[in-house]
Amino acid sequence: MSPVLVADNGSDVVELGPALSIFDPVYFGIDEFGQPKRVPLIERNILIGGEPGSGKSGLLNGIVAHAALSLDCRLMLLDGKRVELGQWRKCADVFVGPNIEQALKLLKRLQILMDRRYDYLEECERRKIIPGDVFTAILLAIDEIAYFSATVGTKQQKEEFNLLLRDLVARGRAIGLIVAAATQRPSSKIIDTDLRDLFAWRFAGRCTNDSSSDIVLGHGWVAKGWSANAISPNNPGAGLLIAENGSPELLKVAYLDDRTCAAIAAYAATLRATAATEKAVSRVLRSVPPAA
Ligand SMILES: Nc1ncnc2c1ncn2[C@@H]1O[C@H](COP(=O)(O)OP(=O)(O)OP(=O)(O)O)[C@@H](O)[C@H]1O
Ligand SMILES: [Mg+2]
Repeated sequence: MSPVLVADNGSDVVELGPALSIFDPVYFGIDEFGQPKRVPLIERNILIGGEPGSGKSGLLNGIVAHAALSLDCRLMLLDGKRVELGQWRKCADVFVGPNIEQALKLLKRLQILMDRRYDYLEECERRKIIPGDVFTAILLAIDEIAYFSATVGTKQQKEEFNLLLRDLVARGRAIGLIVAAATQRPSSKIIDTDLRDLFAWRFAGRCTNDSSSDIVLGHGWVAKGWSANAISPNNPGAGLLIAENGSPELLKVAYLDDRTCAAIAAYAATLRATAATEKAVSRVLRSVPPAA
C-alpha cells in the first residue's frame, strides 16, 4: 500500500493523503469506448510526436504529474521552452531549460548513475529494479527533443546529445530510468531512426500528413489504415498510442490546465518534502542507541 503522509503545520496535524507509485500504471485518458487507459511506464520509455498544438506537452505533463506524486521516483526535466514543464521545478532534482551544456551535463550524470546501478545489481546478482528497492526510479522528461538534438549547439554537441540519449533509452530500463520525450516530428534529422525504435510506447497526436504519422508510430501503419493525420486539428489530446508488438489504439488524453498543474505540483512538492523529513528523522532515530 502507498504510504499515507502526515504534515505538521505548527498548530494542527494535516493528513496529506496517499502518494502514488511509479510502479502503478499511469493514467493517460480514455479510449474510444470511454474506458480509462492506464499505461505502465516502469521499465519502458515513451516517445510523443505530433504537429504543433496536438497536445504533446499535455500528455507529458500528465506523466510528470504521476511521477511527481510517486515518492519512489525522482524527476529530471529538460524543457527547451521552460514553461511547459516549469511548474514541476520544485518537485524535480534537476530542471534544465534551453541550455545544451547543462543538458549534456545532466545526460552524462545519468549515464554514470546508470553504470553504478548496474555495478550494484551485478554485485547483488540481480537483474532489475523492484518495488521498494534501495534506489528510486527516475523519470527523465524531455519536452522538444529537437531543441537539444538538432537546433542549438555545435554539431559535436548535437551528436553527443543523441549518443547519450540513445544509451539512456537503450540501457536505462532495468535500473528504473524512464525516458518520456516529446517532439513535433521525430524524423531522422531530429532523432536517429534506431533510437526512435527503442521507445516501447509511442503516441502520435495529430500529424500534418501520413508520412509523419508513420514516422512516429513506425513504418507501415498508414498502409494498414492507421494514420494520425485523420485526427481532427480541433481535437488536441486525441492520438494513437502504440506499444511494442501491439496495434495502435485511439485515445483522448486527459488535460491538466495551468491551475490544476500548479495545485498538483504544490501538493507533490509538500509530499516530497514531508517524506524526505520523515526519512531523515527515522534515520536519526535508528542511529540513536537504545536506552540502557
Ligand atoms: N488532452 C487535451 N484535451 C483538451 N485540450 C487539450 C488537450 N491537450 C492540449 N489541449 C489544448 O491544446 C493546446 C496545445 O496543447 P499542447 O501545448 O500540449 O500542444 P503541443 O503538441 O505540445 O504543441 P507544441 O508542439 O507547440 O509544443 C493546449 O494549450 C490546450 O488548450
Ligand atoms: Mg509542447
